Amino acid sequence: MTDSQPLDERVTNRSLRPDSPTFLSWVTSGWAPRGTSTAQRSPAADYAAQRRARLLDRFDRPVRLVVPAGTPKVRSNDTDYRFRPHAAFAHLTGLGAEQEPDAVLTVGPGPDDATLYLRPPAGRDTPEFFADAATGEFWVGSRPTLDDMATVTGLRTADLADLRDGLAQDVGDDGVQLLVVPLADAAVTALVDEVRGPGPDGDDRLRSDDRLHSDDQLREAVSELRLVKDAYEVAELRTAVAATVAGFEQVVRALPRALAHPRGERVVEGTFLGHARTEGNAVGYETIAAAGPHATTLHWTDDDGPVRPGDLLLLDAGVEADSLYTADLTRTLPVDGRYTPVQRRVYQAVLDAADAAFAVVRPGVRFREVHDAAMQVLAHRLADWGLLPVPPQIALDPDQQQHRRWMVHGTSHHLGLDVHDCAQARRTLYLDGVLEPGMVLTVEPGLYFQPDDLLVPPEYRGIGVRIEDDVLVTADGCENLSAALPRTPDAVETWMAALLPG
Ligand code: GLY
Ligand code: MN
Ligand code: MN
Repeated sequence: MTDSQPLDERVTNRSLRPDSPTFLSWVTSGWAPRGTSTAQRSPAADYAAQRRARLLDRFDRPVRLVVPAGTPKVRSNDTDYRFRPHAAFAHLTGLGAEQEPDAVLTVGPGPDDATLYLRPPAGRDTPEFFADAATGEFWVGSRPTLDDMATVTGLRTADLADLRDGLAQDVGDDGVQLLVVPLADAAVTALVDEVRGPGPDGDDRLRSDDRLHSDDQLREAVSELRLVKDAYEVAELRTAVAATVAGFEQVVRALPRALAHPRGERVVEGTFLGHARTEGNAVGYETIAAAGPHATTLHWTDDDGPVRPGDLLLLDAGVEADSLYTADLTRTLPVDGRYTPVQRRVYQAVLDAADAAFAVVRPGVRFREVHDAAMQVLAHRLADWGLLPVPPQIALDPDQQQHRRWMVHGTSHHLGLDVHDCAQARRTLYLDGVLEPGMVLTVEPGLYFQPDDLLVPPEYRGIGVRIEDDVLVTADGCENLSAALPRTPDAVETWMAALLPG
């Protein structure tokens, strides 16, 4: 048995941990042997191998790419947020919610060189086993063995304690260049910097432009690698979307409870969260449950307001599957089941903008053209309503844009492991990029009339509408992955009538 380990300084003053040799020998003995392994190769393993090969191909020099899973983030004092690994790590290992914090993947320099560094299970003869609140089996459950993780991922696995030596192998000016995904794990970045060491002239090159440039190149590369989804990813996004559609149904069923509660938005948020945790891993982002004028606040996540009869409820929510792929859907629902004429007018304008955007989504079209199509519709509709100070064709000039007062956000973003996926991709490949089959993006136009907007008639004030769908670019057009969730005002009313008590 090893010596007792020091206590986490965050809990020293309140620890009741017995430390006597008698107790240590008692608690670390008498355990049954561990059961036989049930590990199975993940269906994502072969896809992840292909992704790693494509990543390595982007570098024209011998590199070892370091991709940390990350470490738990402190919520407050000695409590952490639930661990959620870096998207690049999930993508390149194929591991989802089951993975452990602090793991590190290295890729390269050779095409078959990929190692997953993990903390092995703590021996039951160590104090960690029962005494470490962060990693001990008594506290957070058992960890998989390195062999099991090799089976699941198809990767070579190694003890995290050997990471430094693994990183350092053949590293040097004429050898392998070490690159790390920045901001994923400060401790791993520091270790990589230490291994890279000072340059040949003795300068501390840790922060040299060259080096940062190279890490930025990796940051871009792991983001751009996800722009086109493979078959596994599309299937997982379908799973996330289906679970989200079911979550929206649960929310409609809960509307009578939301109307009866002073914080009805919390009833909505809690209903969706409970569904996301039971059917998937979590929500992919904080749920926006915005009733009445709160719907005009784009990212309203306080969700602490009432849901009143006659309100619209803007619900922007997504279930993150166990694989960590998330949906991102929005519907704007009349809480009593019927849109008023003015709500329906605004809703229809947003729907027409969404349909115009859908109509242009196909391979070869620039990403930004999807937004342009939606803006054409909204600018003309706002002009029809007499809200624009200039004709719509003038407003659409990039130097004018008066219509954007009522929709300041973009119409689309890539979707995948992150809700705003591929965010570090270069502008030339994102906003100015060309759509390709396998890309998944949102189409989410909206109109938001703030309650104190003096430039719109009173009946429009406090109305916010967004309609958001998740769209797969196909060989010759697109598929609305979220088509199962009603979009037209009539279909929404019919759907709600079937779910609400009669
Ligand atoms: N839910 C955030 C967004 O729609 O981008
Ligand atoms: Mn979105
Ligand atoms: Mn959204």
